[in-house]
Amino acid sequence: MSAILTRNSAQVLLLAVYPRNFWYIAAMSDEIGSTPFARKICDQRIVFYRKPDGQPVALQDYCPHRGLPLSKGKCEGRSIRCGYHGMLVNEYGECESMPQQPNVGRLAGIHCYPCKDNCGYIWVWVGDESGVDESSLPNMPWKNSNSISTSNSNPQWTFAGGVFHLNCDYRLLVDNLMDLSHETYVHPESIGQTEIDEAKPDVAFDGDNVIVERWMNNITPPPFWAGLYGSNEAVDRWQICRFYPPSNVHIDVGVAKAGSGAQSGNRSLGISGMVVGFITPESATSCWYFWGMARDFDVDDEALTERIYDGQKKIFYQDVGILEAQQENILQNPDRRLANLDIDSGGNHSRRIIEKLCSSE
Ligand code: FES
Ligand SMILES: [Fe+2]
Repeated sequence: MSAILTRNSAQVLLLAVYPRNFWYIAAMSDEIGSTPFARKICDQRIVFYRKPDGQPVALQDYCPHRGLPLSKGKCEGRSIRCGYHGMLVNEYGECESMPQQPNVGRLAGIHCYPCKDNCGYIWVWVGDESGVDESSLPNMPWKNSNSISTSNSNPQWTFAGGVFHLNCDYRLLVDNLMDLSHETYVHPESIGQTEIDEAKPDVAFDGDNVIVERWMNNITPPPFWAGLYGSNEAVDRWQICRFYPPSNVHIDVGVAKAGSGAQSGNRSLGISGMVVGFITPESATSCWYFWGMARDFDVDDEALTERIYDGQKKIFYQDVGILEAQQENILQNPDRRLANLDIDSGGNHSRRIIEKLCSSE
C-alpha cells in the first residue's frame, strides 16, 4: 500500500491510495524512443527510454551525483548520460563512468523498474519486485495495435486511442466510467440520451471484477451510434462496464436492431466495440488516462477509425473538464463528504476492491 501524505493550501491531509503490486501503463509504446522521457507514476519520478535493441528501460529519474533528473540528459546506447556533469548511468541504474572521475562505480545507483512493451503500451511495475509476474500483463485481443495506427496482429479487431493527463484522483475517473448515467448530461450531443437514466443497471461481481450492465431496448440511437449504425431506426443498446484491478475499466458497448436478440447473445444484427480505459495514478490528485476503443466491425475502414478516434477524444475531453472541476471543488470543501447514491454502486464497489488490495499489501 502506498500512503503519501501531502498538504494543499487549505491544509487538508490527502491520502494517495493505490495498489502497487500491479503493472501500470506508463506510456503509449510510440511515446518512448531513444530520447529520455520523464513521467511520474504512482508518485515516483521515472525516466523511460529505449535501448538500441528496442527494449524499454525505466529508471528512477535522479542522477546519483547531484540529483539532476536524468531525463534532462541524453541516451547513449544502452545507457543514459546526465546533462549536468556527464555521469553515465547504465540500464540497470548503476554508475558506469564519468569524465575525469574514476571509481564512480562504487557510488550507490538508482532504482531500475521492471518495464515491458506489451499490446501497444509501456508497462511499469512500481511495487515489490518479488511479486513481478509477466504473465499478469493483459493480453488484449487487439494486441500489437499502436496508437491511432491500425497495425494489428489480430485482423478481426482494430483499435485507436490516446492518453490524457487529468488533475483528479484516479478513483473519480473510475467512478465516472462505472456510472454512465452522466452521459445524458455531459455528452448530450453524442452518446447521451434520457433513456440511460430510465434504465436501471444490474451490478454483479466476478472475483475482483465489478460489472455494471445496462440495457436500453427499443430506443432511438443517440447521434454517435446512429452515425456508426447508419440508421435512426429503433435499436437495443447496451453498456457493460467491467472494473478490474488495479484501476482499469473496459466497457462493452453497442447497438443492434431492436428485438433481434442482442440481450440474449445474438449480436449479428448490430455493431459493438470495447471502450478501453486504463488509469494510472500519478499522485493523490492527478492521473494518466489511457483511453481508446477497439471494434470488430469494418476493421479496414481507416476513415472510420479516425472518425471514432476524433469523436471519442471529444467525448472524453468533456469528462476531463468535469473531473478536474469536481476535484478542485472537493479540495475547496474539505468538510463535505461525497454522497453515495444507487448510481454510485459500481464505483463504490470498485473503490472497496482497491482498498482491500491496498490493505493486503
Ligand atoms: S548531477 Fe548528474 S553528473 Fe552531476
Ligand atoms: Fe463520459
